[in-house]
Amino acid sequence: QTDTVIAPSLLAADFARLAEAADAVDGAVDWLHVDVMDNHFVPNLTLGPPVVKALKAATEIPLDCHLMITAPERWAVGYADLGAYNVTFHAEASADPVTLAKQIRAAGSKAGLAIDRDTAVEDYLDLLPEFDTLLIMTIKAGFGGQAFMPEMLDKVRVARSRVETGHLELRIEVDGGIADDTIEAAAEAGADAFVAGTAVYGAADPAEAARRLRARADA
Ligand code: DX5
Ligand code: ZN
Repeated sequence: QTDTVIAPSLLAADFARLAEAADAVDGAVDWLHVDVMDNHFVPNLTLGPPVVKALKAATEIPLDCHLMITAPERWAVGYADLGAYNVTFHAEASADPVTLAKQIRAAGSKAGLAIDRDTAVEDYLDLLPEFDTLLIMTIKAGFGGQAFMPEMLDKVRVARSRVETGHLELRIEVDGGIADDTIEAAAEAGADAFVAGTAVYGAADPAEAARRLRARADA
C-alpha cells in the first residue's frame, strides 16, 4: 500500500486569498487540488491557466489540476507546461485519452483520468497503465459541498483490484464529500488519494482538519 495523499480543494477556499489558503495547509498536505471548470462540461465556472500560473509561483505544494472542461486536448498540456504536478482530465470529455496522457507526461506532469458519477469504470480499466492517477468522483462533478455517494466505492474496489492484478503504479483518488465520516470507507475500498474541500477549508484550522483526515485514512 502506497502512502496516503491528502489534497485539499481550493474550491472551498477564499478565491481572493488563494496563496493564504495554500500556506494554511503547507506541511500538512501532499497536493493542492485545483478545480478548473468551464461552464460547459459542468454548469459552473472557476479559474484557468493564469490563476494556476500564479498559484505555482505562490506555493511549493504540488498542484493537482482537475480539469472539468470540454476539449481537454486544447488545454491540458498547457497546465503541464505551467508546472502542474498532476493534470487530470475527464474521460467523458476526451475522444483519445491515451494520446492526451502521453502528451501530458511528455510535458513533464503526471497524467490523470477522471470519471464522473454516471460513468462506469470498466470501460477504462485497460487504459490505466497509461495513467498515474484515476480520479473517481464520489459526487456529480460541478460543485463542492455535496453529499458523499457511498455507492461510488464499488468503482474504487474494481479499480483497486485491477491495480493489484496488473501491478500498476496508479493512484486512486476520490473527490466529493470526503470528510471525517466518509474517508475511512473510501480508504478501505482502496482509494489512496483524497480530495477534501469543505472538510478542510470549512474548518477553523485547515491544517488540523487535513491531519485528522490523514489519520482516519491510515487507521
Ligand atoms: C467538485 C470538485 C471537488 C470539490 C469537492 O466538482 O471536483 O474537488 O471541491 O468539494 P467537497 O470536498 O466539499 O465535496
Ligand atoms: Zn475536484
